[in-house]
Amino acid sequence: MKKLKLALISSMFMGLVGCSGGVDITASSTAEEIYNASCASCHGGGLKGWMTGAPEVGDVETWKPLQAKGVEAMTLFSIKGVNKMPARGGCKTCTDEQIKATVEYMAENSK
Ligand code: HEC
Repeated sequence: MKKLKLALISSMFMGLVGCSGGVDITASSTAEEIYNASCASCHGGGLKGWMTGAPEVGDVETWKPLQAKGVEAMTLFSIKGVNKMPARGGCKTCTDEQIKATVEYMAENSK
């Protein structure tokens, strides 16, 4: 029984890791589209968010110190990556402006 549970959990995790793609981000993609395609897998809570420790969008308390740093600082971190946060949130085709807009979108939804 224990083994079955473990197998279930690991297959769920593999599924989550594998499903972050699927949508092509182009120069005209909006912040919301980029968030859903590239960031929500970690920042939308759930198992992967819990495992990586990504600040969950909508969790006002967690975002307070980030909001205090400001969007510019958060954008720089997001472009470079920080700890388990990949550079550009894994969105290799995103421009700096798009990353900034997405950070703004996340911050706006976490107030
Ligand atoms: C693989 C998981 C993962 C993905 C995908 C991801 N993030 Fe993150 N993100 C994290 C983690 C983990 C942290 C916390 C890093 C730390 O401070 O230890 C973080 C932190 C952040 C922060 C706060 C940075 C700061 O100033 O401390 C911002 C803003 C952010 N992410 C934006 C994004 C955006 C925008 C995307 C999509 C384009 C994205 N993330 C995709 C895992 C992820």
